[in-house]
Amino acid sequence: MHTRIRTFEEYQTAYQQSVENPEAFWGALAEQFIWQKKWDKVLDWNFEEPKVQWFVNGKLNITENALDRHLKERGNKLAIIWEPNDPKERFVRLTYRELHEQVCKAANMLKAQGVKKGDRVVIYMPMIPELAISVLACARMGAVHSVVFAGFSSSSLADRINDAQAYAVITSDGLYRGAKEIPVKRVVDEALEHCPSVKRVIVKERVGWKPRMMEGRDVSWEAEIEKADKNCPAEVMDAEDMLFILYTSGSTGKPKGVVHTCGGYMVYTDYTFRNVFQYEESDIYWCTADIGWVTGHSYIVYGPLLAGATTLMFEGVPTWPDAGRFWQVVDKHNVNTFYTAPTAIRSLMAAGTDHVLSYSLDSLKILGSVGEPINEEAWHWYHIHVGKEKCPIVDTWWQTETGGILISNLAGVTPHKPAHATLPLPGIQPVLLTAEGKEITENEEEGLLCMKFPWPGMLRTTYGDHERCRQTYFSSFKGLYFTGDGARRDEHGNYRIIGRVDDVINVSGHRFGTAEIENAINQCIHVAESAVVGYPHEIKGQGIYAYVITREPITNEENLRGEILEAVVKEIGKIARPDKIQFVSGLPKTRSGKIMRRILRKIAEGDTSSLGDTSTLLDPNVVDEIKAGAIH
Ligand code: PRX
Repeated sequence: MHTRIRTFEEYQTAYQQSVENPEAFWGALAEQFIWQKKWDKVLDWNFEEPKVQWFVNGKLNITENALDRHLKERGNKLAIIWEPNDPKERFVRLTYRELHEQVCKAANMLKAQGVKKGDRVVIYMPMIPELAISVLACARMGAVHSVVFAGFSSSSLADRINDAQAYAVITSDGLYRGAKEIPVKRVVDEALEHCPSVKRVIVKERVGWKPRMMEGRDVSWEAEIEKADKNCPAEVMDAEDMLFILYTSGSTGKPKGVVHTCGGYMVYTDYTFRNVFQYEESDIYWCTADIGWVTGHSYIVYGPLLAGATTLMFEGVPTWPDAGRFWQVVDKHNVNTFYTAPTAIRSLMAAGTDHVLSYSLDSLKILGSVGEPINEEAWHWYHIHVGKEKCPIVDTWWQTETGGILISNLAGVTPHKPAHATLPLPGIQPVLLTAEGKEITENEEEGLLCMKFPWPGMLRTTYGDHERCRQTYFSSFKGLYFTGDGARRDEHGNYRIIGRVDDVINVSGHRFGTAEIENAINQCIHVAESAVVGYPHEIKGQGIYAYVITREPITNEENLRGEILEAVVKEIGKIARPDKIQFVSGLPKTRSGKIMRRILRKIAEGDTSSLGDTSTLLDPNVVDEIKAGAIH
């Protein structure tokens, strides 16, 4: 079994084998890892409950495979290059040996703080090496990590900590983001006023503030790591033990904790990393995501380290000190593979081509895109100005729930096509359906994207609520995993992802449920009701458009707008702030009280010519009023 596909024919063969005999296919790929006990059966599954188990009864530790396994041959190879927010600050390099030692020490530190196997540890940290070390330290000693992006508010953080019933939180005093300094520990303190499960907080120093430390609860990373032993045997984990929980938004309710397990996730992230990015031993690989999102989990930490690669972690933002920062980092560290989001590309495009042209970018071989559909204009700009028309672009489609990339070209091996994620990876069996559940076999017809067969990296459950997992992903179409995305397929089998078909909006590659934002807006005392929709946004992909009904006539619109924005920042975080707020006297509702979002979406898009039949609405006149006041 080849771990890396090198030609189009090899892709076709691998794909065919993976469909004809998935167990043989994945079983052979899993052989390359260290298993403390081999599995009894490769796969056990049904999508009804759902129950999905890979490498049944296999025992392993993912860090033994991501670290110890490389020590003999790659002990002195760089595992992590860390580039700080400020280009004037010194960067950090960690070899596999150094990373291994730091992870072992951190795992011992967690144990000394009373963390036990199976306990949940929430990590709320900036993009510093200790974030990756914390993630791996949890995995080393069998704790379940749940990383929360450090841009979320204290209230969002508290919800996640409580849902996970976390025992400990790892954080920092503050963080740098561009020109800003953000008091991270203060956010944690606020959250913890509502989180009785948390017994320990470990605080890494980053900014040099001296945060308030609560006696008996808070300890300093530096002081505790000092005391920790550097030997820490890898905890024996079942292949199906939880590795991590990652919260993500859906159509309804609060964000749910997507659960990934140890064995399948390991095999899948390693395989997809090697193949999609056509990884070579000497490559310097950089994914610009934050480890707070799934992309960072799978393609900054686990995938690259499992493959023995050098992975670059970047603390900063693309536009500070100027819009050339990404390209400066590429030249500085001779980056070969560069993986980013369309929203970043579009914002750099808007800043002008001069920035990118002032750097050589000679080292680049492969470019990647993730998180949202990449429009053709951005694709071409990326291809021409960044890739100098010599670098294949992998457009990788996947989700928090899928654990790893499902649909993508393999760099330079299978063809790229602008705005298309292209072909399913081996092991992935997509189908397109009509809303009625009929399979679409014609080309170029839009359908709902589902998966027929499990793959090792898929989610197993939603934490603490298996029924919600079944309802959300496995109940729309019997026997299928439903992605929530719409897609089209061309005559060569290439998939083009259109976007979400549910009430999830994708703002700069970040997922929000419209209900979640509405709940936040409704916290404002002057707000009676609200409805949120997405609309096309030049840089962000989708922007947030909020229609708001107030309790009493508005006296000061600007003040109220400010209050609404503040409520969203408090409940969710800055990243979910509405771009447009329109005050309305009513919302288009059916007689049964359901908001007709389709109409609101059309108005937000500025397309009022085809609103469809509005005669069934409770109050058809409201549509004219909303149209007249629409913000464009
Ligand atoms: O709508 C799809 C979009 O992002 C959603 C998943 O978001 P999240 O779980 O936050 O994970 C993002 C990183 C994997 C999908 O349902 N999406 C992701 N990648 C692409 C994409 N849409 C189009 N093209 C992509 N390459």
